[in-house]
Amino acid sequence: MQIEFNSYIQKSDKTDLIQKEVDNFLASERFDFVKTLSDKKYQNQCHTIFERFKDRSHFVQIGIGGSSLGPEMLISALSKNTERTFHFINNIDPDKTAQQINQINFKDALFYVVSKSGGTAETLASFAIMVNELKSHGVKESELANYFVFASDPSTSQLRELGDDLGITTLDIPTNVGGRFSVLTPVGLLPALFAEIDIEELCRSAFSFGSELSNLYSFKKAVSMILNHHENGYDQTVFMPYSSRLRDLSFWFIQLWAESLGKKDKDGKRVGLTPIPSYGATDQHSQMQLFMEGPLNKVMLLINIKESEHDLKLENQFDHPKLQKLSGFTLKNLMDSEFFGTKKALEEQNVPHIVFNINKLNEENLAKLVIFFEFLTAVTGFCLKIDPFNQPGVEAGKIYSFEWLDNL
Ligand code: PA5
Repeated sequence: MQIEFNSYIQKSDKTDLIQKEVDNFLASERFDFVKTLSDKKYQNQCHTIFERFKDRSHFVQIGIGGSSLGPEMLISALSKNTERTFHFINNIDPDKTAQQINQINFKDALFYVVSKSGGTAETLASFAIMVNELKSHGVKESELANYFVFASDPSTSQLRELGDDLGITTLDIPTNVGGRFSVLTPVGLLPALFAEIDIEELCRSAFSFGSELSNLYSFKKAVSMILNHHENGYDQTVFMPYSSRLRDLSFWFIQLWAESLGKKDKDGKRVGLTPIPSYGATDQHSQMQLFMEGPLNKVMLLINIKESEHDLKLENQFDHPKLQKLSGFTLKNLMDSEFFGTKKALEEQNVPHIVFNINKLNEENLAKLVIFFEFLTAVTGFCLKIDPFNQPGVEAGKIYSFEWLDNL
């Protein structure tokens, strides 16, 4: 992965601060999202489940937040399986859930219920609904273990206890790896296996890149650029891959960045960098006008893929000046021209941006992107003097919604 910078503010030297926080991070148990990648236990658990259920044509993942966004992203970026249907039940919208129920072949499905805490209301509600549906298809309670696999914290989870009671296997989400950092644990690795993604290569690449990132000059430069701009009012981060297959990577990044970095610091000061999801070339016809000429308060993270897997000729004989101009080129040529054209225009407008260039979209490079952004989030949070791994701001809403239910 090659990283290019177009930075317009470098007011203060952050080298010492960043090094100190990188060292703090490496010494903390939170670095486990990299360390556990070398523990084959998690991959092996997934292989065992895959061998048992590989005949199923429908894979249904039930989870929310970090228990769904990462897996969705892996499947849309890298799935090689064209026979199996993937369903993500990641909301409690009754109309959407009813629609999804109609699309699932219940007798030929594996339901993967993922909750790190084991107590998320939305996930448990969807689990209960799927059990009811299975029962209406003639499945007995004693047979549920043939349809469900759970994933949860190895020690403190009521979901795991329920799984044990029902004879359902529960995979381990490592204790020190929080939801939004868990895509390369069984949370994402099991669906990835069902999608014929090479999970060994994903973990190998992520571990090796994660082990060297703290020494990489371009990593520290990225943190420095984000912090320097943040101090100068650039409190928005646009995430824009030039790829439809990476559109879900934007949504994965949005959760990672927002839930990790938006919170009160030790003195009660509200801190945060607002992420904006986007993807090229489509959003050049939607948000780009704002990025180019709107307030100078955004740092853009752009992803450019050098080689596409497929390419299509634009050759044609139509009597239309634009179509004639395109003839002789390919779709990839056009995508490249739009990426480089936009980059040049952003430079002219002094919009700060970092470009992540990868050769191809494959396991090796996607794993590098995932680890880079997880690492960037963690170290940026430490430098901003907040805990990037908690989410205290969402707890009150959960308590009030249960109160509301009690009063129904
Ligand atoms: O990143 C996080 O920790 C959260 O967004 C969780 O992923 C989300 O709340 C779901 O939690 P759980 O996996 O415990 O059901």
